[in-house]
Amino acid sequence: MALLFVSHVDDPELWRAELTGHVPGLEMRVHPEIGDPAEIDMALVWMPPEGLLASLPNLRAIFSLGAGVDAMLRDPTLPAHVPLCRLVDSSLTATMSEYVLLHVLKYHRYQDRYAQDQRHQRWQLRLPGPPATTRVGILGLGVLGSDAARVLGGQGFSLRGWSRTQKNLPGIACFSGEAGLAPFLAETDILVCLLPLTPETTGILNRDLFAQLPDGARLIHAGRGAHLVEADLLAVLESGKLAGATLDVFSQEPLPEGHPFWRHEAIDVTPHAASYSHPEVGAAVVADNIRRFQAGQELLHLVDRARGY
Ligand code: NAP
Ligand code: GLV
Repeated sequence: MALLFVSHVDDPELWRAELTGHVPGLEMRVHPEIGDPAEIDMALVWMPPEGLLASLPNLRAIFSLGAGVDAMLRDPTLPAHVPLCRLVDSSLTATMSEYVLLHVLKYHRYQDRYAQDQRHQRWQLRLPGPPATTRVGILGLGVLGSDAARVLGGQGFSLRGWSRTQKNLPGIACFSGEAGLAPFLAETDILVCLLPLTPETTGILNRDLFAQLPDGARLIHAGRGAHLVEADLLAVLESGKLAGATLDVFSQEPLPEGHPFWRHEAIDVTPHAASYSHPEVGAAVVADNIRRFQAGQELLHLVDRARGY
């Protein structure tokens, strides 16, 4: 039996070297060179073409190369009986926390303003208060959101977070559910989105939500493009309700040529690059699951399909 590897962004040979180091004798086939589909029992995938997984008659485990599995869950042919595991690894988590810290510091230290000042040859000193005076709010307190909060807490920022179920995390004011959203937003100067994309969270970053933030708030969005109503963001930047946005994910990726975000003074764009797994770290986690699969044990990081993440 064999593992099928499917990804347009991950290097299969790096993953093969790491995986076979952990699981000697593992046969890994790289899409589209599938060979006999009946010989594939596991798949390691990022955004597989719709219908591909359904075409593997003996598939018994799916391992995602990403933390978010929304694209796979949108595939109506995704085999319902096959366990789906998402990627949870320390390199993916650490790189996301770096991204969040980088951009929170950018706003806290007025680096966005200095970049504008430089373009206009304007020499203007802007000195922020201590980090505790900047209130950061994180949508999503899961693996990524809670680690980003931990890292920001180490820098002294004032922290709050919002999740579906109530959390109790040291140093973080925790809010949950629909009722918790308004009080969470009311005291958030920098809003960080690290939610999974589900029917409940689609379009959550919209005009109504932005209206509940303090004037001049900033957005750092590294969840999924469909969380954001793009026209609403442009409107609140235009009105001054929001002072800036850092966007890593978009409703259409790559962001199309000529899209207004590319040239917007108050928007920083990164190409879905916020976090990534180092194969040497990610492969150890996937290998653990492969060994569990081979031993008939319970898999780690199983997606709850009913919940959608
Ligand atoms: P996770 O561990 O599953 O955490 C998800 C968090 O979101 C949980 O705290 C969950 O609440 C909360 N949540 C889900 N639905 C909610 C709702 N309707 N209302 C309020 N809170 C809700 O996921 P993760 O590993 O942190 O990853 C989060 C997301 O980050 C991924 O799904 C993906 O979209 C995105 N991501 C982006 C990149 C990038 O490079 N841009 C990289 C990796 C991941 P509970 O704790 O109560 O369940
Ligand atoms: C990337 O977006 C991921 O979900 O890991």
